[in-house]
Amino acid sequence: MSRAIIAGTGSALPDRVLTNRDLERMVETSDEWITSRTGINTRRISGAGEGTSRLAAAAGRKALAMAGVDPGELDMIVVGTITPDMTMPSCACLVQKELKAVRAFAFDLNAACSGFLYALDLADKYIRSDPSLKILVIGAETLSSRVDWQDRNTCVLFGDGAGACLVTGGAGERGYLAGKLMADGSLWELLHLEAAPGHNRDLRPNHDSSPSIRMQGREVFRHAVRAMEDAVTRVLNATGVKAESLRLVIPHQANIRIIKSLAEHLGLPPEKVYVNVDKYGNTSAATIPIALDEANRAGLLAPDDLVMFCAFGGGFTWGASLLKW
Ligand code: UT7
Repeated sequence: MSRAIIAGTGSALPDRVLTNRDLERMVETSDEWITSRTGINTRRISGAGEGTSRLAAAAGRKALAMAGVDPGELDMIVVGTITPDMTMPSCACLVQKELKAVRAFAFDLNAACSGFLYALDLADKYIRSDPSLKILVIGAETLSSRVDWQDRNTCVLFGDGAGACLVTGGAGERGYLAGKLMADGSLWELLHLEAAPGHNRDLRPNHDSSPSIRMQGREVFRHAVRAMEDAVTRVLNATGVKAESLRLVIPHQANIRIIKSLAEHLGLPPEKVYVNVDKYGNTSAATIPIALDEANRAGLLAPDDLVMFCAFGGGFTWGASLLKW
């Protein structure tokens, strides 16, 4: 049976770096609070020409180059994002245009911070039906455009960026071994971002005209820790893989305390759990593919290594997936 393999990775980050010291001048916060409560030191903020689709295309181009695949060979582009440039067309269509991937069909997927995980799982299902497909799976966000820069509860947490994988069919035992995706819409209010209000007054909620991300951080934290640990455990149990056999866990990068709790739960040493939340903050659907690209380019992954991804985000959505590299 053929399963999805990742043949190339890429990432793209805006140039501008926003430090905790910069934030101290914007809201009532401190470098000490942000570092100790989140592990974040800096994050990247998009400027002109660095919209979500541009970052996504730049990351995609690098993944294609690494895999030695021409954009014209792509069959499908899927972008996990909650911050597309436009509601219509999708970010994925803009990426298709930018890359001149003329043969590819393209669409966005909204699963918040779990977007990349959901998209990768979907790509695997396509590959299982046709292993010759070449699929670009991207997580891309410009959360700086949807954050309330006066709300210290959220504005210190998020950043912009994109990561991409070129996915195709592999031979033998390598590739996507298993995934477990979950959702609980009943808890949506704890972490949400309203759509821009429309023109139908009856349907229009009574809120401001440019909504921002709202989060009840402590509650979300509690759910995130439990949910990611549970998802990883389920995937390990389903595959019979022991936690100590994992070469690398790449978790969603929201908070260093969540990541440390996960590592502890799995009994893994710090070097087996990838962390870059200090540099980029929470880039939602982009955290895992950016981290994967960094780990890959740093030579942290060798053929047949077992790699676990796990994420948690608005919806709630969450899950985990296991790959043999
Ligand atoms: O990516 C999707 C999933 N998202 C997550 O997983 C995020 C989960 N949540 C978190 O990472 C953490 O809950 C936060 C980092 C958001 C907050 O950390 P916390 O330790 O849970 O703090 P808290 O919300 O309980 O707030 C503690 C105190 C409060 O003051 P009082 O009420 O104790 O006086 C806050 O008002 O810290 C205050 N506070 C701040 N102080 C300085 C909140 N934000 C800030 C800030 N600077 N930026």
